[in-house]
Amino acid sequence: MPKLTINGTEVEVEKGTSVLQACEQLGLEIPRFCFHDRLSVPANCRMCLVEMVGAPKPIASCAMSAADGMQITTNSDRIVNARKGVMEMLLVNHPLDCPICDQGGECDLQDQAVGYGYDRGRYNEQKRAVTDKYLGPLVKTVMTRCIHCTRCVRFSDEIAGVPEMGEIGRGEHTEIGNYIENAIHSELSGNLVDVCPVGALTSKPYAFHARPWELRKTQSIDVLDAVGANIRVDARGGEVMRILPRLHEGVNEEWLGDRSRYALDGLTRNRLDRPYVRQNGKLVAADWNSALAAAHNALVQAGVKAAAVAGDQADSETLFLVKEFLASIGSTAVECRQDGALFDVSQPTGWLFNPTIAGIEKADVVLIVASNPRWEATLLNARIRKAWMNGHVEIAVIGPKLDLTYPYEYLGEGPEALDTLMRARSGFAKKLKSAQRPMILVGMGAFCRADGLALHGKLSDFSYQSNVIRDDWNGFGVIHTAANRVGALALGYGQHFADDGIAGLLAQTRNGGIKTLYLVEADEINPDQIGKDCFVIYQGHHGGKMAARADVILPGSAYTEKTAFYVNLEGRVQSTRQAVFPPGEAREDWKIVRALSGIGNQPLPYDQLVQIRRKLAEINPFFARIDAPYAAPAAKFGGEGSVSSDSFVSPITNYYQSCAITRSSPTMAQCVEEILTTTPTKRTGTNG
Ligand code: SF4
Ligand code: SF4
Ligand code: FES
Repeated sequence: MPKLTINGTEVEVEKGTSVLQACEQLGLEIPRFCFHDRLSVPANCRMCLVEMVGAPKPIASCAMSAADGMQITTNSDRIVNARKGVMEMLLVNHPLDCPICDQGGECDLQDQAVGYGYDRGRYNEQKRAVTDKYLGPLVKTVMTRCIHCTRCVRFSDEIAGVPEMGEIGRGEHTEIGNYIENAIHSELSGNLVDVCPVGALTSKPYAFHARPWELRKTQSIDVLDAVGANIRVDARGGEVMRILPRLHEGVNEEWLGDRSRYALDGLTRNRLDRPYVRQNGKLVAADWNSALAAAHNALVQAGVKAAAVAGDQADSETLFLVKEFLASIGSTAVECRQDGALFDVSQPTGWLFNPTIAGIEKADVVLIVASNPRWEATLLNARIRKAWMNGHVEIAVIGPKLDLTYPYEYLGEGPEALDTLMRARSGFAKKLKSAQRPMILVGMGAFCRADGLALHGKLSDFSYQSNVIRDDWNGFGVIHTAANRVGALALGYGQHFADDGIAGLLAQTRNGGIKTLYLVEADEINPDQIGKDCFVIYQGHHGGKMAARADVILPGSAYTEKTAFYVNLEGRVQSTRQAVFPPGEAREDWKIVRALSGIGNQPLPYDQLVQIRRKLAEINPFFARIDAPYAAPAAKFGGEGSVSSDSFVSPITNYYQSCAITRSSPTMAQCVEEILTTTPTKRTGTNG
């Protein structure tokens, strides 16, 4: 390991570390614009200059590898003057826009100008102006502010895998843009705003809405898919103003999908803000007591014939209380697979993403089955791309043939391709079997079909047969699309309807087997399939088809309005935190269930959230550890039976509108109009 001296202090660093990173290890801050930890190094801004003994000129510390015996100085007068020179050149053409710039207050150029800027310019000529570019409904451009660091170009090329950004022209005519002015066709385009060190790329929906110092920042997690990206919710007063990613190396690194970042305007629209009870066929506004009493009566009268369905964003504490309450009236009928998925719920290894998201980087061979990971789990797909960029993974796909942002071998579109692969002794089958870290990643497209259980069994056999599951490695991963599906399964949801899932439950509402149905944020069921005589209680935050079908509406909270556990697809328990209060009379969901149970003689014995969490940790191994993937013991899983030859299809047909929140968001509607209608993921045959 090389040893070098920085400002008189000796430091030993890993081979391959740059001088800039070595300085950081000593706690020295080196100014930079173009360098970004996760992107390639172009060394084009020259702001990170340091002095090296033996070098005639200052060196760019981001591009120089640390070597044995180097003597570096970061704070000499010569270096400070050199950086001041760079800053002066950067500001030659930079507009004096700070008072009207959305980057103001969190701008690298502003910050570094404090240390290295002059208080006046020596440039008397006209400043250069650059025409703004159109990048779609999410990213706003003010290209005169661009300092040509090329972070956005490298991000599009390397991380997003959508090389739509580039540099055009030379010298003073250089411009950054997207060649053909069109919306960026990436689900990661919002990250361009984060990587841009200045106000050239900013958030379009957030433009001129708030200043960073006005915002209350709450650390939370995203629940719009099952990845569980870590986020920061910035709120002013009672309104969420923006959502930004938060660093978590094991989950989202520092990226966030566009849906999770920009759907926040759906949080204030179409909200249920007071209870309703159906009277004479019409939903009538009611007070909490009468709504809870009506719901309680219906549930208690149904007793063993009561059932509950957990929605995709229902939190763990609420689901635990719902299950306990139903148990107290004699029912075990709780289901969470509202999309109709059928798989074996008895073995966690069969429904977890066992290799973990970070583990994807260790993979050498990956088989993707029945999934469009780009839409189903955008950040997980970014990890697959990262593994591919690192150059050591071979990828094959069985299922829809789409542009996944990396090349793959295409094996077929349905279960027959899986059978062929299982029988094969060469080609990809051989690669999978002889790999050190093979993975089979399966989407809900394999299970949202009548033969889901049999396919689950087939995938189990194949995983064992091809060494994907063995004593020292479990490379079988299910790509869930619902934020807390794993949490619900961990709590025992799905076991009552193990063989027929939601279809069986709905059939019972029609034949009288279920008389009262309690929908907990369950918005994705077809209301026409619920029996006409079945009493429906809907607890949720947005009005929609299920609220319209309900006999009682109990207004709950969206994920930014409550502190609650969600379990991501790896079995990682994480918590949202309340950033704002729910609107009107809406309440936190666990409190609603607790109040519902309090109508009778035996209220559930939990008055505080911490009591529920303590109980969960005691009785359920998933909740015993926070923020760690669940290591499920290896076991065979799945059912038997015949498998149809129907092609696999992804359950996500519209990335931007996949839940009640996103369907209420005008920004997401605009994305559908401007991006989805032309997005390359809708076209087939671009890879393979
Ligand atoms: Fe000011 Fe930074 Fe905006 Fe430039 S990019 S106008 S320095 S806030
Ligand atoms: Fe850098 Fe921003 Fe310009 Fe892109 S738009 S080159 S990120 S300053
Ligand atoms: Fe080193 Fe830009 S950060 S040259």
